[in-house]
Amino acid sequence: MTEPKRRSKRFLERERRDLRREVLIAPNPALGLVAMGGPNDPVPELQLLDGRAVSIDGRPEAEFDVIDHFVARHGLDLEVAEEAMGLDELELARRLVDVDVARAELVRLSRGLTPARLARVVSKLDPVEMMFALKKLRARRAPANQAHVTNLKENPALLAADAAEAAARGFAEIETTVGVARYAPLNAIAILVGAQTGRPGVMTQCAVEERRNLQLAIQGLVTYAETLSVYGTEPVFVDGDDTPWSKAFLAAAYASRGVKVRFTSGGGSEALMGQAQGYSMLYLEARCLAAIRAAGSQGVQNGSISCVALVLSLPGGVREILAENLLAAWLDLEVASGNDAIASHSPIRRTAKLMGQFLPGTDFVTSGYSIMPRYDNMFGGGNYDADDLDEWLTVQRDWQVDAGLEPVSEDAVAAVRERAARAVQATYEAFGFPPVTEEEIEAAVYALDSRDLPDRDRAADVAAGDRILAERITGLDIARELDRRGFAEVAEAILGMQRQQVAADYLQTSAIIEPSGTVRSAVNDPNRYEGPGTGYRLEGERWQLLQKLPHEVPAGALVAQHSGEHAIEETHVARVGNRSDEVVVAVGPAFGGVLEETINGLAHADVLAAIADGIRAEGAEPRFLRVRRSSDVAFIGHDGAGLSGSRVAVGLQSKGTAIIHRADLEPLDNLELFGMSPLYTLESYRAIGRNAAGYALGRPVGPVPTAMDNFARAKLIVKTTLLHARETAAVVPQAPAVEVTLVGPPGPVAVEALPGTGPGVYQ
Ligand code: 5AD
Ligand code: CA
Repeated sequence: MTEPKRRSKRFLERERRDLRREVLIAPNPALGLVAMGGPNDPVPELQLLDGRAVSIDGRPEAEFDVIDHFVARHGLDLEVAEEAMGLDELELARRLVDVDVARAELVRLSRGLTPARLARVVSKLDPVEMMFALKKLRARRAPANQAHVTNLKENPALLAADAAEAAARGFAEIETTVGVARYAPLNAIAILVGAQTGRPGVMTQCAVEERRNLQLAIQGLVTYAETLSVYGTEPVFVDGDDTPWSKAFLAAAYASRGVKVRFTSGGGSEALMGQAQGYSMLYLEARCLAAIRAAGSQGVQNGSISCVALVLSLPGGVREILAENLLAAWLDLEVASGNDAIASHSPIRRTAKLMGQFLPGTDFVTSGYSIMPRYDNMFGGGNYDADDLDEWLTVQRDWQVDAGLEPVSEDAVAAVRERAARAVQATYEAFGFPPVTEEEIEAAVYALDSRDLPDRDRAADVAAGDRILAERITGLDIARELDRRGFAEVAEAILGMQRQQVAADYLQTSAIIEPSGTVRSAVNDPNRYEGPGTGYRLEGERWQLLQKLPHEVPAGALVAQHSGEHAIEETHVARVGNRSDEVVVAVGPAFGGVLEETINGLAHADVLAAIADGIRAEGAEPRFLRVRRSSDVAFIGHDGAGLSGSRVAVGLQSKGTAIIHRADLEPLDNLELFGMSPLYTLESYRAIGRNAAGYALGRPVGPVPTAMDNFARAKLIVKTTLLHARETAAVVPQAPAVEVTLVGPPGPVAVEALPGTGPGVYQ
C-alpha cells in the first residue's frame, strides 16, 4: 500500500479559492477551443475577378458558405481591397497604434480586408497596444454604459425603481428581459416609465423573441434592440433558421420603426454549439463582424458575451476578447463591450478582464451592468452588480477614467426610486391592470431584492400583458395617462422618446441621448483621438462629479477636534537626570496638547499614566518630558534617553507609536519599537513601561511579542498621515526638550488584556 501523497497546506488553501471552481483547459483546435491564431485558420487571401470576390481566405466561390457569400457581396469594399490586402500585416498593426494615422483612414482600409487578415493584424498587438488602438478607434468620443434591470418576480414597481436608479446613475441604455414571455410588454413598460423618471433620454429594450420585440418597438415601448445574433459558421447560423440576409432584413425592420439596432456576436459560441469547424474564436468572430458590417448595422454587442467563461478557460482568452472589441471598433461599429456575463468566480480575475475595456473606454463599457443584486439578474448573473457599484465608482476615481457611472446619494436614489414606482403604479391604475400596492412601492424603494417584495397575482399580470399587445397600448397612451395623473415630467420624457423614434437621429452610429433630447453620436461627437491633448478625457466638471463619491470625507474630519484643554503642562527646560532608576517618558511635540488621543482613541493622559504605572510596578521611577525638535519617534526616544538618569527612555508619538531607547545606541537603532499603534490598549502601554524599567534596572527583559494587523495601513494610513502632519507642524526646530507634568488626576486606567501584551513578557 502506498502512502497518500503528502499535501502542502498552502496548495490546499489555494485550491479552496473561488477561482478553482472553474476549469482551465489546454487548447483543442479541432473543437474550436483555441482563442486566436488557430493552426487551421486560413491564410488571408482575396481574389477579384470582374469586380467580384471569387476567393476569400483560401475558399473559392464555389465553396462559399452563406457568410462568405454575404460578405463577398455586401461587406468587402472592392475599391480598397487591393490596396488594403497588399499591405504588410505588421505595417497595418503599427498603423492601428500610430497616432498620426487617422481613425477614418484605418476604417477605410478595414473595409478592404478579409476576416482572416483582420484577425491576423490585431493578433500582432499586445494587450496594451490593443487597448491603445481601441481608445483610438472607438466610434463615439465619450464612453457610456448599459444596465441590466430584471427581477425574478417580474415585479413592476421594482423594475421601474431599478430602471430609475440606473438612469440616475448615468447608464445610457437599460435592458430588461423576462422569465415568462407573456410578461414582455409589462416589463418593457416598467423600465420605460422607470428610466424616463430617472433621466430623460435613456434608451430601453426588452430582450425577447424578435417578433414580439418588434411589436413592442412599433408600440413605442422600447427604443433599441440588440437581440440580433450572428455566428461565424454556417451550421450555427442556420440553427435558428437564420441567414445573414434574414438578420439584415430584421435590422432594417427595426430601423424602419425608428429603433436603434446592434447585433450580438462573440467568440466561443460556435465551439459551444459544436460547430466551430476547427477554427479559432477570433477568426470566427472576424467573420461575424464582417457579416454585421455587411448587414449595415451601426454596431455590435461583442466580446464573447454569454460565452465569456468558455473563452477564459483558454490561454490568451482575455486577450482574444479585447481583440474582438478592437476589431469591431476598427470596422467602425459601435461596440457594447461585454462584461455582462459572469466571467469568473474570482473577483480579481473579473476585474483584470474588465480593465481591457474600462481603461481605453468603449461606446458601452459593459453591455449589461446589473443594477440589482445578482440574485435578481435574469440574464444569467452579471459580471458586476449592485454590490459592486462603489468599487466601480472608486476605480473610475482611482484611474481618472470615465466608465459611464455617476455617484448618487442614498437620498437621491430613494427619491427617484419612489417616483418611478409611483409612476408605474399610476400607469397600472390607468389601464386597469392589477394594482401596484403601497407595500410593493415601499419595498421597491428600500428592499435588497425581489425576495423582499410581496407576491403578485401572476395570472392577472400576464393577462394584462396580453391586453397591451391586443389593445395596442402605446408609449403615447402611457404618456397621456401619466400626464393626467400628476407625472407631467415623466410623461414629457416618454413623449420625448416617441419623438426620437420618429426623428430617428439616434439611428446614427453609437448614439446616446442626452436629457435635453440632443443625440450624441459618432456623427456629431466623433472620437478623433490623435494623442495627448485630443479625444476624450475625464476632466473639468465631469471629473469633479465622478470624483466626489458620497463616502468621501473631508481630511480634517478624521482627526478629533482639539478641546482646548491640555492634558500635560510644560514646566521648564529638561535637565539630565541623576537617578539611576529613572526612566524618562519622552512625548512628541503635539502630545497632550494639539492632539489629545492616539490613533486607537486612547486619551494621552491615560497612556502616560499606564506607562508610568508599568515603570513603577517594576520598581523604577518615571519622569515625563516633551521633545520639541522632532516628530520622529526614534529621535524623541533617543533624546529622552540622553536625558534619562538610567540612559533608558520610552519615546511616544501622539498617534501612539512608541519606542524603548537607550542613549548609547544609534538614534535609528532601538531596544524595542512598537509601530502598530492602532492595536495598542492601555495594557500594552503598561507592558512597554514595565519593559523599559527592566532595561533601566539591568534585568533580563523579554521583548513584548510583536502584534500585527496587515490591514492597519490600508485602513489607517490617511489618519496616520493627518496625525503625523499635526505632530510635525508642532515641531520647534532646535528647541530643547522640556519637562512636563500631567494636568489634573488621570482618569481611571482601564486595563484590558490584549493578545501579545499579557503576562509572560519577562523571561
Ligand atoms: N454570439 C452570438 N450571440 C450571442 N448572444 C450571447 N452571446 C452571444 C455570442 N457569443 C445572444 C443571446 C441573445 C442575445 C442578447 O445575445 O443568445 O440572443
Ligand atoms: Ca446587453
